[in-house]
Amino acid sequence: MITNVKEILTKAKEGGYAVGAFNTFNMETTRAIIGGAREINSPVIVQVTEKTMEYAGGRGIFNLIKNEAEFYSAKIPVGIHLDHGKSFEIIKRAVEIGFTSVMYDGSRKTWEDNLMVTKEVVDFCHKKGVSVQGELGNVPYLSEQKMMEVDWEKYMTNPQKAKEFVNFTGVDALAVAIGNAHDFFKEREIPDWKRLSEIKSLIGVPIILHGASDWDNGKAVEAVKLGVSCFNIDTSIRLAFMNTLSSIFRGNGNFGFDPRQILSQAREAIKKNVKNKIELFGSSGKA
Ligand code: G3H
Ligand code: 13P
Ligand code: ZN
Repeated sequence: MITNVKEILTKAKEGGYAVGAFNTFNMETTRAIIGGAREINSPVIVQVTEKTMEYAGGRGIFNLIKNEAEFYSAKIPVGIHLDHGKSFEIIKRAVEIGFTSVMYDGSRKTWEDNLMVTKEVVDFCHKKGVSVQGELGNVPYLSEQKMMEVDWEKYMTNPQKAKEFVNFTGVDALAVAIGNAHDFFKEREIPDWKRLSEIKSLIGVPIILHGASDWDNGKAVEAVKLGVSCFNIDTSIRLAFMNTLSSIFRGNGNFGFDPRQILSQAREAIKKNVKNKIELFGSSGKA
């Protein structure tokens, strides 16, 4: 059943577990995410980026997720979220389509710009009943930064600034940087746990951890203990999809001419991956 992301995150925060927010770009991934969550009775967030809105059509992908959540998975809470909205225009477009949760990502802007635009976005969205995730700090991507040794101090979220940011903007959730990184960018060897605890003690809204595809059992469990309520996953499920197709195509060449057969296998691989992540985050059985 379609459920407000804010409600899903608040329950996770209060219940001391985290949920997964998984990125989709097509029908197979969407079905795998929601289907996987349904099999283990977990709430789940399905999210799309601006690039996916261009690829699949914003309205098209939104309605695909909505349809799946309403008609095939009515028993589990499914939140639909815009991930990494980088401009006011994309936020407005998402709201117009029907998203009730968006992220405004001003993390690459100056402190002042991030603060001011995030506040404008929150004011606009709250009037329409839409919740907003902001980001403070930098969770890098490989495409932005080739250098493998980074000065993490410059990237990570300053706890006092996080407090100021949340209080001033009124965001409903905050994405933080504690040495985590997107895709294949090398992460800080050990996440800055002290920083995470400090942030947690200073802000009242749910904490989101991006770049969690490669977070193993130890790291994820510790992060939940210290206050993370949601992990963002994209790379890991994209890889499950691509690796399945690639191994089929590199196989004996006997894959026939019905794409549905091989795409179903890719879908199953994503579903398995989603279920493993959900178990790790602790939200199975919480629907
Ligand atoms: O952080 C978000 C994604 O992993 C990047 O997604 O390629 O759809 O922009 P994108
Ligand atoms: P990964 O690249 O680790 O999957 O992170 C995804 C993400 O943060 C989406 O917002
Ligand atoms: Zn992200």
